[in-house]
Amino acid sequence: MLTYTSIRELRERLREWREANPKGKVGFVPTMGFLHEGHASLIERSRGENGLTVVSVFVNPLQFGPNEDFERYPRDPERDAAICGRAGADLLFAPDVREMYPKKTITKVLVEQLTDRLCGASRPGHFDGVGTVVSKLFHIVQPDRAYFGLKDAQQVAVIERMAEDLNLPVEIVPCPTVREPDGLALSSRNVYLTAEQREQAVVLNEALGKAEEWLAEPGIDAAGLRERIVAYIGRAPLAVIDYVEVLTYPDLQPPDSVAALHIGRGSRIIVALAVKFGGTRLIDNRIFG
Ligand code: PAF
Repeated sequence: MLTYTSIRELRERLREWREANPKGKVGFVPTMGFLHEGHASLIERSRGENGLTVVSVFVNPLQFGPNEDFERYPRDPERDAAICGRAGADLLFAPDVREMYPKKTITKVLVEQLTDRLCGASRPGHFDGVGTVVSKLFHIVQPDRAYFGLKDAQQVAVIERMAEDLNLPVEIVPCPTVREPDGLALSSRNVYLTAEQREQAVVLNEALGKAEEWLAEPGIDAAGLRERIVAYIGRAPLAVIDYVEVLTYPDLQPPDSVAALHIGRGSRIIVALAVKFGGTRLIDNRIFG
């Protein structure tokens, strides 16, 4: 695996590869590093479906709010490189902030509507940062396919819509959430949890499992489902709910009828959660239908 920190050198290498492999496909896995098995699964999938796999590791300041964890976001470049190599990445792109933003960016990619709820409501400006950096990375790498984990299902919906609206020639490939044996979704932020918080954090996945059972009940509606989930999460004394939402997916609209909640009738429903344990905000979701 080759590592690049310079956009110019990465582009040069990609140009050479494309010249030598005119029919070859480029798969891309954008990340913010501190990689875990979830990222490895995206890299392995890309490896299986493309001739060349590029991984980026860049902690993007633009998607963090002023009081968020940009400075303390966990970083481990050597471990990241080892995981990328093991999972089968061919090129690792690890630019610094000056390389990606040599000037204060005055051009941004904003996706409306999908970004004013869920994490967009709790983290104003977050998705403007995501849209902008992903769009820049797509222009740099020019992948045929890009792989994103569904733990950030709203991010997947936003990026799919951005790619569609802007006619970007890339296929967005949503991939399943990878979990710990006890069900906690893998996240780079899990390292912040104390032992007690970690133990209680399983309540997110448990609540989503319960939601699946409750959704099967005839007559359940979105408000009733939400209430039950909130009450279930309340069993974990350290959990502080940021949001619990039941919406259509990928439009992220309130479901307009009880029937829409019933699986297998054409509409998909997302149950999305964001819960804080101390200063650590965890998200999880399940998509039904
Ligand atoms: O999901 C992430 O790690 C980031 O939001 C992404 C897509 C790499 C953009 O910085």
